Amino acid sequence: MNYRQQFAEEIYAHLQEISDVDEIISLIEEPKYNTHGDLAFPCFTLAKKMKKAPQQIAEELSLKVKAPFLEKTAAAGPYLNGFLNKAIVSKQAIQRINMEKESYGSSSVGTGKKITLDFSSPNIAKPFSMGHLRSTVIGNALANISEKYGYEAIRINHLGDWGTQFGKLITAYKQWGSEEKIRENPIKELFHLYVMFHEQAEKHPQLEDEARFWFKQLESGDEEANKLWKWFREESMKEFAKIYELLDIAFDSYDGEAFYNDKMDGIVQELKAKSLLSLSDGAEVVDLAAEDMPPCLIKKKDGATLYATRDLAAAVYRSRTYHFEKSFYIVGQEQRLHFEQLFLVLQKMGYGWAASLKHVPFGFILKDGKKMSTRKGKVVLLEDVIKEAIDLAYQNIKVKNPALENKEEVAKMVGVGAIIFHDLKNERQNNIEFNLDEMLKFEGSTGLYVQYTHARACSILWKASSENNFPVSGLTDSHSWTVIKTLMDFPNIIEKSFQQAEPSVIAKYVLKLSQDFNKYYGQVKILTDDKEQNSRLALVKSVAIVLKEGLRLLGVKAPEKL
Ligand code: ARG
Repeated sequence: MNYRQQFAEEIYAHLQEISDVDEIISLIEEPKYNTHGDLAFPCFTLAKKMKKAPQQIAEELSLKVKAPFLEKTAAAGPYLNGFLNKAIVSKQAIQRINMEKESYGSSSVGTGKKITLDFSSPNIAKPFSMGHLRSTVIGNALANISEKYGYEAIRINHLGDWGTQFGKLITAYKQWGSEEKIRENPIKELFHLYVMFHEQAEKHPQLEDEARFWFKQLESGDEEANKLWKWFREESMKEFAKIYELLDIAFDSYDGEAFYNDKMDGIVQELKAKSLLSLSDGAEVVDLAAEDMPPCLIKKKDGATLYATRDLAAAVYRSRTYHFEKSFYIVGQEQRLHFEQLFLVLQKMGYGWAASLKHVPFGFILKDGKKMSTRKGKVVLLEDVIKEAIDLAYQNIKVKNPALENKEEVAKMVGVGAIIFHDLKNERQNNIEFNLDEMLKFEGSTGLYVQYTHARACSILWKASSENNFPVSGLTDSHSWTVIKTLMDFPNIIEKSFQQAEPSVIAKYVLKLSQDFNKYYGQVKILTDDKEQNSRLALVKSVAIVLKEGLRLLGVKAPEKL
């Protein structure tokens, strides 16, 4: 059903000495105006080789290229335009989608290969920030898209569960903490202690010494320190779990920074053996001056290892454990340098697979044009934000559809979906403005608009029949053709969004499909008892299938009634 490919093959049959199929495919475009058909082959690239004017080539090809799936071909200046046979092509497309259902658009390109995705990765004892939210939804979508493309996706939550902040936290807890309060409200309370530590340390610098002492204790296996650390981690994880549950996102591994503690020595030894370490102010670093980059810090003066050391160990461990073909790190763009350094050091260590590591950066979430900050103790808990979205969705639904049965369940799908969709419809590198009212609009570029369109398609199908199996003939009117062409594009969209690691490609696509379908719905009477009714219903069903699958890839649910 890949008509681009088929068109290329037909053209190739007449240009065998001059070109090859791949070159021809890569040249084929979509005409700017639909009066120019569905496919356009520009002839200027070949004109030189053929020593002919492109207009003449197009003219000649238009007389030769013929196939059942083509209604006609025509030369338009230097272009050969192909007009698809609507009756044949629409029938094939609709039949295929109805048969393949949610596997429509799947690819086997990644089959047998693994991809690891490092995403979400919040820091223990600190609030789950807006940045972590972006990482979570982008990473989850990319994992789904990778699977759709055939890969086995391994979702890794590289928890920030180690580092000097735990020395500070233990110090603060021992001074001012209350076990009961932490149990009641772990993140809020732990973060409060953390903030308090910083306030107090300005006045009483000896607190810093104490914090260093406790971190040393932690690193050397002291029982009390480790017990507290473990407890902080557990309590924080319970809170994060609530967010993952609301978002319906799960991980294959929660091996965070602490997991690599016993792998630090190995990495440092290896760097030494490969003569990559040098001393700088008492710290051990990998010098990257030749690459115009600041040195990568491996070990501090006091012997403590660092974020980068842990990431080196993690990358080596993942390569040995998973034998990945690709490895993505979905982390904010402010860590760009860190990943450039990391990849470079791995390359210097002689690991060829370093070339398959990819930092997938993203922009900030803004509120009223300003960066949302969790520092300075002003905590906006993400769980509360999500619950507010669900609540707003509930209020909306109550007004719009008071008779809806499972309002709460649907409100969850809509509220959570709104947040995810709002994030993913933007190219990930852009900053995005956080505005719940905006996200929950029925019209416009929202998740709700797509969900609503899907529910509309479902309701038409219910009205029509209970057995959902429609015999199909072709549809030839221009309204359905627009929808069918968009439906046929879905497999390319999957490929593009995977190649660019860009979920927005799919978000924009489901918006377009929704718009096309709503226009169609406004112009064509679907439930009219004529010979094309079944085909129209099968088209509606195709739309429902693809919208639902597109939303699923983004991590958004599609309720059947709304
Ligand atoms: N915990 C880190 C942070 O919040 C993100 C970790 C990203 N993953 C990694 N392998 N470095 O900034």
